[in-house]
Amino acid sequence: MTYRIAVIAGDGAGPEVVAEARKAVDALDLELEWNELPWGTGHFHATGAMMPLDALDVVRQHDAVLLGAVGDPSVPDHITLWGLLLPLRQGLDLWANLRPARLLEGVPSPLAGAPPVDMLFVRENTEGEYSGIGGRAHQGLELEVGIETSVFTRAGVRRVLAHAFELAEGRSGVLTSATKSNASRYGYVLWDEVAEEVAARHPDVRYERVLVDALAARMIGNPASLDVVVASNLFGDILTDLAAELQGGMGMAASASVAPGSGTPGIFEPVHGSAPDIAGRGIANPIGAIWSAALMLEHLDEAEAGARVLAAVEAVCREGPRTRDLGGQGSTEEVGDAVAARVRDG
Ligand code: NAD
Ligand code: IPM
Ligand code: MN
Repeated sequence: MTYRIAVIAGDGAGPEVVAEARKAVDALDLELEWNELPWGTGHFHATGAMMPLDALDVVRQHDAVLLGAVGDPSVPDHITLWGLLLPLRQGLDLWANLRPARLLEGVPSPLAGAPPVDMLFVRENTEGEYSGIGGRAHQGLELEVGIETSVFTRAGVRRVLAHAFELAEGRSGVLTSATKSNASRYGYVLWDEVAEEVAARHPDVRYERVLVDALAARMIGNPASLDVVVASNLFGDILTDLAAELQGGMGMAASASVAPGSGTPGIFEPVHGSAPDIAGRGIANPIGAIWSAALMLEHLDEAEAGARVLAAVEAVCREGPRTRDLGGQGSTEEVGDAVAARVRDG
């Protein structure tokens, strides 16, 4: 069987890191076909849209999507992101966003004493604070309003919590749920109630509920006390940038947007954005993108291939070359070539 992988390299540093992720996959002996979809801000300037109208159908003809990043200073971010990434996650109903955060050997830790960091974030990915529901009225007037509505559904909350509990069972059996049900009294309270119900069905998992502000502090103060963390769309977004720093920086972190149990193609993308401040200079760290490709292989049921890519990432982080965000001098391409060579040897 030949896997069909859609590539949305996107904007800024996206194409630079995606090229290296592809190299790592091409170093395996898999039957795989890449299909480049030239969507993004360039497409927007040329056509007025970030992606074509039939984008969801096009994506569904693939087994997975490898995505770089979306966003360019020439267009407001809410136009570009609501023109591509968010409608894909929502439209394909990719409700779970899995973001492992592990500090690898050889990567400098920002924390004194370099405590171990090994967490898995399970982020709700289609609703919550990112429902997209809201509006503005009386624009430009003094009485102008902007309304942004959070939507939490019992079914949406339950499925992501249930998945997080299952993942916790496969790890250390510790699950932390992040909400803010002191100040907010509806959506997160529903979330907490559903979490209690799901927890009752998983007595083998030690479940704890932590207010998200306190959780952010604990990630710095006692990261080793955390394993699987489940959070809403916005909280998961913020916490995973923090987690990325704990694993060495934005360039290290990987992500999978998936709909577990369905045949829907997932979107595999680094956690970072288009990094306009360093784009085009060949210095972006490609590890987050390559790690995302490893997650993609795992989700395609190519666990051995995924493990080979991850082992190559670990070896290169340990022995170099490393990009300058990790204190090294390697270019994006040199790091990517080194990973691909390791994959070939593995
Ligand atoms: P960013 O992640 O692009 O950059 C934040 C910081 O991290 C910058 O200093 C950048 O240089 C650094 N960084 C990012 N990736 C790196 C890498 N691979 N190697 C080394 N350093 C790296 O976030 P931002 O600046 O807030 O956003 C820039 C643009 O990207 C915006 O348009 C934003 O909307 C978009 N964005 C897109 C995605 C996505 O497509 N998945 C994710 C986040 C942000
Ligand atoms: C991410 C990004 C996106 C998000 C943005 C670009 C909409 O920050 O994947 O973490 O918030 O989900
Ligand atoms: Mn983010």
